[in-house]
Amino acid sequence: MELPPCDHTPAPYTGPAKSDLLARRKDVLNQGIFLLYKEPLMPVEGHMQYLWDETGKRYLDCFGGICTVSVGHCHPEVNAALSRQMGLIQHAPTCYLHPAVVEYAETLASTFPDPLRRVYFVNSGSEANDLAILMARLHTGHHEILSLRNCYHGGNAVGMSLTGHHTWKYAVPPMPGFQHAKAPHPVWGPIPYDTPGAGREYAEEIKHLIQFGTSGKVAAFIAEPMQGVGGTVPYPADYLEHAYAHAREAGGVCIADEVQTGFGRTGTNFWGFQNYGVTPDIVVMAKSIGNGFPLAAVVTTDEIAEKMAGRIHFNTFGGDALAMAVGKATLDIMLRDDLQGHCKLIGDRIIAGLEKLQTQYPIIASVRGSGLILGVEFVRDGKPAGAFTADFFERCKDHGLIVGKGGLFGSVIRIKPPMCLTEADADFLLAVFKAVLEELS
Ligand SMILES: Cc1ncc(COP(=O)(O)O)c(C=O)c1O
Repeated sequence: MELPPCDHTPAPYTGPAKSDLLARRKDVLNQGIFLLYKEPLMPVEGHMQYLWDETGKRYLDCFGGICTVSVGHCHPEVNAALSRQMGLIQHAPTCYLHPAVVEYAETLASTFPDPLRRVYFVNSGSEANDLAILMARLHTGHHEILSLRNCYHGGNAVGMSLTGHHTWKYAVPPMPGFQHAKAPHPVWGPIPYDTPGAGREYAEEIKHLIQFGTSGKVAAFIAEPMQGVGGTVPYPADYLEHAYAHAREAGGVCIADEVQTGFGRTGTNFWGFQNYGVTPDIVVMAKSIGNGFPLAAVVTTDEIAEKMAGRIHFNTFGGDALAMAVGKATLDIMLRDDLQGHCKLIGDRIIAGLEKLQTQYPIIASVRGSGLILGVEFVRDGKPAGAFTADFFERCKDHGLIVGKGGLFGSVIRIKPPMCLTEADADFLLAVFKAVLEELS
């Protein structure tokens, strides 16, 4: 299988040898920081949807640095915006007036339905979730927070307390007031998604958790519109509507964690929550927002945001001129080039190909997601096929295709490429999947 042609020539790599670097990394970095692959990947150059390793081998990047590179590696317009800002002023914090933060916040706010319009910039998804929880508590005067089992919301104290996956939690006491409701699942959940009223039924879990596990009053319900780390898990169409209703009835606000689903990636709408016909009170975003630059944001209503006034709140790099220049350039490209529409086009092509493979290879239990946030779950003998998925993941890399892996049992291949993927790239991905399925069958 040949990768589609590419006219970018990478510079020869002249840095330290891979084996040397690996040993030094093991010696100096915190042991909690993990590497993917048996033989770690060392990408030293990137251009749009492609990566090159230290030997000059090219890969199609269908994971985007974990759903983060959105408009393309080293997109020339993003790079130009960054260099321009670097040459003017590098650090312009929000305690001074600067055009970049205002102009970008206005553009970002314009992508939301009313009444979502107040923007607070931070640096990472975990930090944004922490801030969203603070806002929810300040606004409601309540304390208790509901999230979903199988969710991922970050690695700081709040993020880890929200997260519903033991593999991402340490054995330290979570912060008080966080509880997890049973979540829908298209393969492992008790109610098939095509059952009439499936979403309403699944959302009863939220009601029960409020009734039996809380004081009856909650500050927030938070959910990813499609669980990402949990293995690309969408919900039944009417689920969030009912889940939000239960949370609001208990005095809580609803938070959408769009860290993976935002910015048109699902293809059908710019924001993942719009796919369910709901409007959250607070939206958290990161990853794609900065095309790889540390940038995240919380967008909410006037009413919720104003509860932040009256105290001094500051974030050194949040809203900084460099991040704003990158964010604005990235969003301008997304809107100008209709990357949402492009995600739909390419995503539909991949889904059709995957569904065809599903008819030929029964180990594919589920093809799910939409646009360029897709998942393929492997199941063998009624159990998650984690070992098979791990082999599949490795073999894809050998063929020059980078994908992700997820789900509690590691049985889901995740496809979340830069949004500039072409039809030829999609066909390459499908050809590699077929070849690897054949090799491993
Ligand atoms: C849905 C979701 N929320 C929050 C986070 C945390 O973001 P960060 O790693 O930028 O702190 C992630 C990261 O994977 C995520 O997928």
